[in-house]
Amino acid sequence: MTFDLLVRGGTLPDGTTADIGITGETIAAIAPNLPTDAGRIVDASGNLVSPPFVDPHFHMDATLSYGIPRINASGTLLEGIALWGELKPLLTHEAVRDRALAYCDWAVSMGLLAIRSHVDVCDDRLLAVEALLEVKKLVAPYIDLQLVAFPQDGFYRSPTARANTLRALDMGVDVVGGIPHFERTMDDGKRSVTELCEIAASRGLLVDMHCDETDDPLSRHIEQLVYETERLGLQGRVNGSHLTSMHSMDNYYVSKLLPLMAEADVSAIPNPLINIVIQGRHDTYPKRRGQTRVPEMLKAGIRVGFGQDCVLDPWYPLGTADMLDVAFMGLHVAQMTSPADMKTCFDMVTETSAAIMHLDHYGLAVGKRASLVVLDAGNPIEAIRLRPERLCVIARGKVVAERKRQETALSLAGRPGSVNRRHKTPQ
Ligand code: FE2
Repeated sequence: MTFDLLVRGGTLPDGTTADIGITGETIAAIAPNLPTDAGRIVDASGNLVSPPFVDPHFHMDATLSYGIPRINASGTLLEGIALWGELKPLLTHEAVRDRALAYCDWAVSMGLLAIRSHVDVCDDRLLAVEALLEVKKLVAPYIDLQLVAFPQDGFYRSPTARANTLRALDMGVDVVGGIPHFERTMDDGKRSVTELCEIAASRGLLVDMHCDETDDPLSRHIEQLVYETERLGLQGRVNGSHLTSMHSMDNYYVSKLLPLMAEADVSAIPNPLINIVIQGRHDTYPKRRGQTRVPEMLKAGIRVGFGQDCVLDPWYPLGTADMLDVAFMGLHVAQMTSPADMKTCFDMVTETSAAIMHLDHYGLAVGKRASLVVLDAGNPIEAIRLRPERLCVIARGKVVAERKRQETALSLAGRPGSVNRRHKTPQ
């Protein structure tokens, strides 16, 4: 037997058609017409075969808690944070773990196999940290779960956040987070960026901060984040999440900022679904969109990934673990409708986000981990348009989810038939 598993005849994201031969947990071969004496064959002919979806920004400690103890009436970020503060004392280890595991099942069904989740460290019990560390272990056979120590109530503003951040990192949380725009003053925010980057540098960790998640054009903590990245030699290891204030910043200032971000290789993760509903809430009309300057950052050579941020929690009443929903919204808000731009949006929920998370084993290439998704679409652009069925999800060489192709039967006068909305879209 040549391979344990053979994915036959799929169309890869670059448009080529190939078989993928898998041995154990590893991609052993990618080529047309591979030998078919495999342990199992998955027929992917006519369908897109992609590396798994990646969500580089999520809150797994809050997910699926919508309505507990109440819903966010104003829809604002600040009411969401206050509501999360009401929910926190009610959390139990079991509840956080079970909701997170339920969400991970959704993720697997959607081909979402890598998630960077922030975890709030402002509860002195660090109960959510313990629960998500347990979840990380439980889902490790199929999901890469990377955790970020996130001082939701402010690294300085919350009296025990600093000590708790260090405790969480000692417990095994992977990445250093922050929330400089939520500190009491701009100066506190700036100092928090410095200290958190120093912690990351001293421990050899990555940085991913909620940064400037506000409509205030003068919220410029990204500037300090870039400065500290250069000063501490953290190039390629630091990410600014949200960066919504950049939507409203002065154009001249942004023309100076973007080259500095590129020079320091600081990446960006906007969260389109959340940014479009949470920002601009204080505006009348015209209302700002609040999404950061995605095309401009890409043009400047900055790596940009799209994140989901929330599913059914104090900040967002919807969500399905489908990163194609995220790409679809991000594409619209950023007006990235050329074929090349749409393909870039697909990369932003797959390859680019994997690179931002430093997932070295990721990708459709020989020697990489055999995790992939077969979609009922012909190419990445059609995948974004249809957000179609994940026909087969493979994690570490094992089929972990399967679904039949959906077709709607029609009973139109004189024209019986069926429809599934696929259409040849130019790449
Ligand atoms: Fe977030």
